[in-house]
Amino acid sequence: MAVKKILVVGAGNMGAGIAQLCAQQGFDAVLSDISLDFCTKAKERIDKGLQKRVEKGKMEDSERVAILSRIALAGDLTPARECDFVIESVLEQIEIKRKVFTQLDEMAGKDVIFCTNTTSLPISEIAEATRRPEKVVQMHFFNPPTIMKLVEIMPGKKTAPETIKAAEEMAKLLGKDPVVCKNEAPAGIVSRVLGQLLNEATWLAESGVAEPADIDKAMKLGANHPMGPFELLDLIGLDVHRAKMQTLAAALNDPRYKHPKIVDKLIEEGRLGKKVGKGFYDYE
Ligand SMILES: NC(=O)c1ccc[n+]([C@@H]2O[C@H](COP(=O)([O-])OP(=O)(O)OC[C@H]3O[C@@H](n4cnc5c(N)ncnc54)[C@H](O)[C@@H]3O)[C@@H](O)[C@H]2O)c1
Repeated sequence: MAVKKILVVGAGNMGAGIAQLCAQQGFDAVLSDISLDFCTKAKERIDKGLQKRVEKGKMEDSERVAILSRIALAGDLTPARECDFVIESVLEQIEIKRKVFTQLDEMAGKDVIFCTNTTSLPISEIAEATRRPEKVVQMHFFNPPTIMKLVEIMPGKKTAPETIKAAEEMAKLLGKDPVVCKNEAPAGIVSRVLGQLLNEATWLAESGVAEPADIDKAMKLGANHPMGPFELLDLIGLDVHRAKMQTLAAALNDPRYKHPKIVDKLIEEGRLGKKVGKGFYDYE
């Protein structure tokens, strides 16, 4: 697989990190979103992070400049025409993802593989929005994508074995250690197990058993978790977490995946997590 240029669609929390990772590993990346302004802001965030590394002596400034020079920006999907690999990381909504994949399919070369970073949406349903379902696969990165070692790879019903292999190879080229799921199932491995743990923590808070900060402290000191569940929820984004629980509840038809009202309330108040400066905790 001779990939040179990777299109990353969605310049949010994850997409920006994935584009940064691609550029760090020597690929040319194009970061695309619905407006160029979102992309510019994402690139500024990437630069801020890189500058911190330079200040700490972990990176040469010339490296920072080189990484940034490998990230181009686009306010639409037209760069799909010249990219050899696509990683989609837009909002976790099936209609939006399907629309993006249909557009990508019209523009990209016929051999280009499309990966989705979806947390819990059905890969097959996304793939069926294209005329190349055999070339669509999940590549699920973890937050932050530049740091976390794992990429989970999951096929849809029609994904070709070569596509799975290519995604595995790409994950390795990006410096990751992939795990491949054998069959399609909502939320894969880590998100499903972790989603349920985070959900349980929110039920504890909802029922007034303990404050989020104390639940976090307990899980860090008592279970040796590096982060508490509420710190992690704020990092993931409450909206992203809720979407996953709703998908799991619907797909597996099991009430144990139901989320408590406290999550809806915070989302209604705009407290989506670290990405907006406030969630269970305040960051401003
Ligand atoms: N947040 C996490 O920890 C995490 C981890 C792994 C996977 N994911 C998955 O990654 C995806 C993105 O999540 P996120 O946390 O980065 O969300 P986010 O809200 O930070 O970013 C989503 C981005 O998608 C853009 N977008 C929406 N519609 C678009 C379109 N039609 N074309 C191009 N861009 C569009 C939005 O403008 C936004 O910038 C989701 O599928 C999510 O489930 C998230």
